[in-house]
Amino acid sequence: MSNQMEMAAAAEFDQWATNGRAESMADGHRDATEQILDRWKLTDEDRVLDVGCGNGWAVRWMLERGAGGGSGVDISPEMVARAQQLTAADMPASFAVSPGERLPFGDQHFSAVLSVESLYYYPDPAAALVEWARVSRPGGRLGIMVDLFAENPAGPVWKDALDVEVHLLSEADFKAMATAAGWKDVQTFRVIDRRPVKTEAEFTPSKWYPTYAIYVGYREAGSLGITARR
Ligand SMILES: C[S@@+](CC[C@H](N)C(=O)[O-])C[C@H]1O[C@@H](n2cnc3c(N)ncnc32)[C@H](O)[C@@H]1O
Repeated sequence: MSNQMEMAAAAEFDQWATNGRAESMADGHRDATEQILDRWKLTDEDRVLDVGCGNGWAVRWMLERGAGGGSGVDISPEMVARAQQLTAADMPASFAVSPGERLPFGDQHFSAVLSVESLYYYPDPAAALVEWARVSRPGGRLGIMVDLFAENPAGPVWKDALDVEVHLLSEADFKAMATAAGWKDVQTFRVIDRRPVKTEAEFTPSKWYPTYAIYVGYREAGSLGITARR
């Protein structure tokens, strides 16, 4: 690992993997991600990759929905260990410790690349999008979900509250980077989590949501989805 940001993310997410946050984070990301993945019809021919896979839930999800093989990579060794523990031995899945910008796969290896709430932690998100294009087959799909982006009113709050450095990118930034990386038909859109929004009485302020208005603003902004074709 060559970069300060990568080392900091690995150390931070090693802690998250061992204190239960890998699972709470997966639960929090599931609904919005599934609304993006529901656009994909996966078949036995598909070889899918999840970059920044955390506990591997999305790789297992894609295999359960028909993909013939799946891989997950993450910068955090403890996240990769968690993904391996949670994945049945007979699933056609593999997990590896790797930075998202330097993947241990040959050219045109995958038919779909997914990344959930991960890209803004990378030292160079634009370089990661070029690397993901390298490992994608012609016509392969790209799916990205992020909650931390400039148009989300909670984005700047989270950037300050996180113990690691992140990029606060706008919807237009993501679109421009994916297009410059060679992805075609780049679409950006919002996905609204279908879980109920808390009432003010149910809401407890935290460093992530210091006020109820920030919480509601985040829920109304939705998650940012980005899809494209190689
Ligand atoms: C917010 S978590 C999301 C995990 C998972 N995608 C999910 O939805 O549960 C971000 C993940 O990105 C990983 N990550 C951060 N920087 C990375 C990098 N440079 N390369 C690969 N993975 C990275 C972290 O270790 C962490 O597991």
